[in-house]
Amino acid sequence: MDNYIGILTGGGDCPGLNAVIRAVVRRAMQEKIAIMGIFSGWRGLIDGNIKPLTRYSVAGIQYKGGTILGTSRCNPFDDPEGLQKIRDNWKKYGLSSLIVVGGNGTLSCSMRMWKHEGYPLVGVPKTIDNDIMGTDYTFGFDTAVSIATDAIDRLHTTAEANHRVMIVEVMGRHTGWIATQAGIAGGADIILIPEKPFRISEVCDLLRKRKAVGRNFSIVVVAEDARPHPDEDYLTAEQRDRVYNEEHLGGIGAIVGRWIEDRVSLSSRVTVLGYIQRGGSPTAFDRVLATRLGVHAVEMVLRGEFGRMAGMRGVDMVSVPLEEVADKAKPVNEELYRIAEIFFG
Ligand code: F6P
Repeated sequence: MDNYIGILTGGGDCPGLNAVIRAVVRRAMQEKIAIMGIFSGWRGLIDGNIKPLTRYSVAGIQYKGGTILGTSRCNPFDDPEGLQKIRDNWKKYGLSSLIVVGGNGTLSCSMRMWKHEGYPLVGVPKTIDNDIMGTDYTFGFDTAVSIATDAIDRLHTTAEANHRVMIVEVMGRHTGWIATQAGIAGGADIILIPEKPFRISEVCDLLRKRKAVGRNFSIVVVAEDARPHPDEDYLTAEQRDRVYNEEHLGGIGAIVGRWIEDRVSLSSRVTVLGYIQRGGSPTAFDRVLATRLGVHAVEMVLRGEFGRMAGMRGVDMVSVPLEEVADKAKPVNEELYRIAEIFFG
């Protein structure tokens, strides 16, 4: 009987995916188990876009961004014939288990594929947002934070030279992990995150105070889903729909910039980091984390630990039930944000 482990990468890409794929292939090779690469996420399992991965097809890919398997946001439950096609291809390609590398959407879908359809699968958390429950870190996050920190460092020098308020909008979906961590590292004067609705009057008071003591420039880091407090929510309905569009978040930085200019006599400029945070080579930390998670996922398959996700707690690899992960987002650690606040103003 065939005994192949399938692997797919779903959702948005993030640096480190290739390191996971390589690690899965190399650890499985030690057990003489072959790995089937499924292309374009769940879409590849539906369409039968599946090919064996060899030692040579994954050689030297750990430093490359993106994913050699390609990805998609395809959800098999949305395709009326998708589940039947997956059943057929599962048999046709001799799959005995599946490793799914994905973010919140893909892992929630994996939980259903395990619980309701009975597929023996193991999840591996990936996202630059670091918002997955059950793991302290996701690979891709350290790379995104490094890129955002470098950008803040560069904005600092130009802000100081031109006496400007620099607003930096960063990714993170519904959590402020990238904003908080990069803000601390880059010495942000204020950090606005979704978990802490902001009052623009307080932001402006802080900037005025800085100006009063001769600090003629400031760095404001804004997470893409940061929201004004209901007490001071001046967004129009059109702005709200555009900025908090689930398909594509973004634009709150420009609005905050305008609100600041209207209230404080300082010029402001807005930089949206966007997809730069997700592209390019992973940091060494992310390569190692991705490699460890890939190896751990294969070992979970060997032990028959299905319906679970590989994760990291402290410095250890752990295995957590997908039910504890699905349909949730891990908010920013309160302690981390409290530390960031010490440096505001
Ligand atoms: O979840 C990762 C992420 O990069 C978010 O930070 C961002 O909001 C989203 O994906 C963008 O997704 P898409 O690739 O669909 O535009």
